[in-house]
Amino acid sequence: MKIFIDTANLDMIREINSWGILDGVTTNPSLIAKENTDTPTRVREIAKIVDGPISAECMATDWEQMVTEGEKLAAIHPNINVKLPMCVDSLKATKILADKGIRVNMTLIFSSSQALLAAKAGARYVSPFIGRLDDIGAHGTDTLAEILQILRNYDQLSDTEVIAASIRNPTHVLEAAELGCDIATIPYNILKLMVSHPKTDEGIAKFKADYEKVNGPSQ
Ligand code: E4P
Repeated sequence: MKIFIDTANLDMIREINSWGILDGVTTNPSLIAKENTDTPTRVREIAKIVDGPISAECMATDWEQMVTEGEKLAAIHPNINVKLPMCVDSLKATKILADKGIRVNMTLIFSSSQALLAAKAGARYVSPFIGRLDDIGAHGTDTLAEILQILRNYDQLSDTEVIAASIRNPTHVLEAAELGCDIATIPYNILKLMVSHPKTDEGIAKFKADYEKVNGPSQ
């Protein structure tokens, strides 16, 4: 499974990129606003750090403006994907952008029918928000499983990759991986949680202590 980081914070992106496990980045208007910047500026900066897909979200609400804004975002760097929020105008814009060779990440996907239509329109990525589904008492991972099954049923839809989004805990990541999801976009704090285990910390401390009993202080 490819791992993206879901943030617009450059320090976090630099750190996770240095781990050697990062395949791409997703941003959204809320994440960009948190950094007090704008999408074109920030994705340009991210593209200098990460060599992989970077999602930049359009703010336009009608399909013609989405196409114009999407073309501008895509022109910033070859790795930029245009993120569009699921709606009829986004479907129309996706078809046009996809025909021009511009990759679209259809975001705010909450149902399999939305994912099916986005893939039909030519979205390169669909992003089901599993955490936000859990928040309203649904089971996000069930929707993710259904989407994966539906897209796998058809060769014509096989170019669409599924991004497990709105990840709230390491279990969400593992559930996505068990389902064979293409990508998980993971917040920084969840990536940090995925690295650690108290028994690992305990083991490292014990090995160090035992080594030092015989050899003196290690570095
Ligand atoms: C995906 O691309 C979105 O940026 C993201 O996963 C939204 O997640 P949230 O529900 O934590 O805001």
